[in-house]
Amino acid sequence: MSKIEVLSDAVADQIAAGEVVERPASVVKELVENALDAGATDISIALETGGRSLIRVIDNGEGMEREDALLAIERHATSKIRNAADLVGVASYGFRGEALPAIASISKFELETTPRSGSEGTRVVVSGGRVDAVEPAVRQSGTTISVRRIFFNTPARRKFLRSQAAETRACVDAITLLALARLDVSFKLTSDDRVLIDVPQAGSVAERIGGLFGREMAEGMIPVDHQTPTLSVRGYIQRPADARPTGRKAFLFVNGRPFKDPFLVRAAETGFRGAATPGTKPSMVLSLEVPGEAVDVNVHPAKQEVRFKDRYFLEKCVEEAVRGALSPVESAPGWEGGGGTVARWHGGTGFHASGSGAQDGVELPPSFFAPEEEGTVAPGIGELLQVFNTFIVCETSEGLTFIDQHSAHERIIFESAMRQLEGDEAVSQRLLIPITVDLNSNELEAVEAHSDVLASVGFEIEPFGGRTVMVHATPNPHPRFDAKACFEELATDLARERFGSLPNRLHRFAATYGCRAAVKAGQKLSASEMRNLLVGLFACDLPPHDVHGRPTIVRLQREELERKFGR
Ligand SMILES: Nc1ncnc2c1ncn2[C@@H]1O[C@H](COP(=O)(O)OP(=O)(O)OP(=O)(O)O)[C@@H](O)[C@H]1O
Ligand SMILES: [Mg+2]
Repeated sequence: MSKIEVLSDAVADQIAAGEVVERPASVVKELVENALDAGATDISIALETGGRSLIRVIDNGEGMEREDALLAIERHATSKIRNAADLVGVASYGFRGEALPAIASISKFELETTPRSGSEGTRVVVSGGRVDAVEPAVRQSGTTISVRRIFFNTPARRKFLRSQAAETRACVDAITLLALARLDVSFKLTSDDRVLIDVPQAGSVAERIGGLFGREMAEGMIPVDHQTPTLSVRGYIQRPADARPTGRKAFLFVNGRPFKDPFLVRAAETGFRGAATPGTKPSMVLSLEVPGEAVDVNVHPAKQEVRFKDRYFLEKCVEEAVRGALSPVESAPGWEGGGGTVARWHGGTGFHASGSGAQDGVELPPSFFAPEEEGTVAPGIGELLQVFNTFIVCETSEGLTFIDQHSAHERIIFESAMRQLEGDEAVSQRLLIPITVDLNSNELEAVEAHSDVLASVGFEIEPFGGRTVMVHATPNPHPRFDAKACFEELATDLARERFGSLPNRLHRFAATYGCRAAVKAGQKLSASEMRNLLVGLFACDLPPHDVHGRPTIVRLQREELERKFGR
């Protein structure tokens, strides 16, 4: 008997499904792309348990006749191309005719569709690739696809699913991408009845960015618009002042199709360099328009990557585009107020507790760094010197002691946060004018889930509708403390799920909060601030180590110094 056998269609479909359907988010992406290809202007997506038990996509597109509804779940059945030549410059998201059969082969699948022609609707029920029922259905024109129990018949794949939160987040990301590509369509995503995305049709990319990420993000972006005779690069790049080293979002589109390309992102960063602090990474939304034949979209199973004919030229254009967008900022310092759409929204609170002390309406209670009574110099500590705006140096009987100001402060805040988390009252300052912070949906979810620990360290927050929260009170670990930036960074950290599943959640939270709230390297400190820092550090349980296990203190022995001088 021969060893080789041709696989049954069902098994072949399941194998093929592995390429298209990796996780719930891939199903969401494929179904929403189909809805867009069907001309839908209104798409809603519902998830249950992160898409494990249900993914449902409802559209108001052109729908299907009964015959097409049956063909749609056959492999290589597509209405979008007829021959290979049609692939050049293909404008639809789909063209392979494999998404629906792949999805139907690994789930309990139900398709309900009614064509615009007015013919009657059809329901097709498929289980693990086997058609269980085909029957008439009553529905307005459009299509609803329900995918239940994904991977129910492929346990090996089911095992690879990540936490519910992670799968939900991937679905949010998939919709975000398509929502940025298609302003002419309204999208709504709910997860176990929580609304995560709800954006109406938008008149501009800025409006869509605002709907997805919050007003502040939208208004902190600078328009990019660069054209050559053969291509254009349009979109937005984050203002250098707002860019952070981590947590940025980069979205690329070519001819309306989302794709991933780290080299183009890097090209954009090259254009950004010089305008921003080294190491910061800007968020960006960049749309390329290139001639159809200059890009091949059929190179990746999930169509996440594309191949360009002239990549070098393209990278140069993206770099140029970003540099061009930023240069007016440098040459015209007055742009910030009068720049129309690019003017940044300050939220009206202007709360930045800088060294100048309390601003109008902001009460600063005594804090760690507040000037203390004269003469409280820690025993054994003499003159203090700050070097590189980063280390504090002092002389002791044994030699010289160097203290890393950030690490030391981190340790102090960490220990006091741990005490607060374990029941001590937090010192917080009430704000007369609350700070409003726009979050993305993951951040909002994370902030709500961790509101208890945030409150313990002094952040008093209240939902304000949409994805905005109001911060009524904040901790006040030092006068240079930027409560808004700290809260935003914490929200980003919390959304990255660095704490949730860990048993030592409080510990992790306190460490992150310490890191975000501490004075940074590069900040000039006054003599009393330095003194307080040292006193605080030596009052800690574990002064010599920061929360990451690095040293806070480095000593240079007098003998060593003398040896070096040959004394
Ligand atoms: N929501 C929908 N509304 C109307 N027609 C649809 C919808 N979803 C799928 N179809 C029809 O079913 C066909 C098969 O869909 P499927 O996603 O499997 O393939 P495709 O979109 O053509 O290609 P790809 O595999 O690249 O996505 C489509 O070509 C389209 O004609
Ligand atoms: Mg498709």
